[in-house]
Amino acid sequence: MISPGARIARVLTAKGAIQDTAIHRAVLAVDRAAFIPGTVWVSSDEPGWDRPVTSADPDYHRWIHEDWALVTQVDDGVPAREDGYGRLPTSSISQPSLVVGMLQALDVATGHRVLEIGTGTGYNTALLCELAGEDGVVSVEVDESVAGQAAANLKSTGYAPRLVVGDGTREADGGPFDRVIATVAARSIPAAWIGQTRPGGRIITPWSPGGGPGVLVNLAVTEAGNASGRIVGDAAFMMLRSQRSGHDPWGSYVNEDDPAAVPGETTVNPRWVSDRSSGWWVVLGHLVPGLGYVSFEAEEDEPQAAGEATVYVYDRDGSGSWALGEYSPEGGPFEAKRCGPRDLWAEVGAAREVWLGAGRPGQDRFGLTVTSDGEHRLWVDEPGNVLTL
Ligand SMILES: C[S@@+](CC[C@H](N)C(=O)[O-])C[C@H]1O[C@@H](n2cnc3c(N)ncnc32)[C@H](O)[C@@H]1O
Repeated sequence: MISPGARIARVLTAKGAIQDTAIHRAVLAVDRAAFIPGTVWVSSDEPGWDRPVTSADPDYHRWIHEDWALVTQVDDGVPAREDGYGRLPTSSISQPSLVVGMLQALDVATGHRVLEIGTGTGYNTALLCELAGEDGVVSVEVDESVAGQAAANLKSTGYAPRLVVGDGTREADGGPFDRVIATVAARSIPAAWIGQTRPGGRIITPWSPGGGPGVLVNLAVTEAGNASGRIVGDAAFMMLRSQRSGHDPWGSYVNEDDPAAVPGETTVNPRWVSDRSSGWWVVLGHLVPGLGYVSFEAEEDEPQAAGEATVYVYDRDGSGSWALGEYSPEGGPFEAKRCGPRDLWAEVGAAREVWLGAGRPGQDRFGLTVTSDGEHRLWVDEPGNVLTL
């Protein structure tokens, strides 16, 4: 029997990414390359810009068979630059190993009713059709042209799930569902996802606390209408359209000449914002929402400033708040300046105390409970152990 997905399946089994035989059969059955449009965007040499690559480029034909995510739309369909370079990736075909990891966590079986948010190219939708049966699959995509292309891709590869063009944060027809999977990150997990999941059902979604880097959560829905479960890995996804934080370059948030900016000092180490320790990022995103930062190291030709850096933090959520901290290896207090209603260094310091006070837990010890009234509780080891300021 010919297996249209044999090539990508081999890449994934060689990496050890597929452990579940039903998912292996699904990946073998679906031709992933058939879902990839003739133009994709990849990182360029210009920071902050993605460049278009078409199928005329030999690299394209290699990349579409590798374990990479490929951006399939930028700037909601209108590239920011006339030469086609894009500023913000807005749709993609997800990384195959992450796709199968999420499906394994979803634990979907034949006969399940499954809701997918973020149809994208339709590739994951086709895998869901293989796993649950296409009568049980509903997939929602907010972008009309992306949805149109996904519909064409699914039709040409032989799948007919129910496709909805609309905002997937709202209730979709066809529920209740046994499984809900989002292939787009939620900063705040929409109440509609929980409301449409059967008690005992499961929600797998990337969660980007405070709009920061995403983690994957595996939530079980209870009779009481809560959703609760563990963080099960990293998941860098684009955000739900309605939940995006500002993504402009840092200079548009920070105006050092603002007369309202107040000089001072802080005992908070400015380098904490770039600490990559597992767990810290989740706490920082959750407790200091909207935080953006950029850091400038002292030049090598300034030996007297060796190790120093100027770190700017800013609120991407629109309060106009920003602060800078002058890091020095001599130690604090550090020279600082702040502007706007939020005291961002104080917020970072308070979040750090919470994380240190909990014993510096890694994210594998974290869980999330979303209550029926929408509160998001981040906890360590067990749901009663909530991390708050
Ligand atoms: C990472 S892509 C999906 C990848 C897809 N599963 C695949 O592998 O082809 C995320 C998609 O979510 C869509 N999206 C963003 N906000 C949405 C919303 N509120 N409702 C539904 N779809 C949304 C984007 O337009 C984008 O196509």
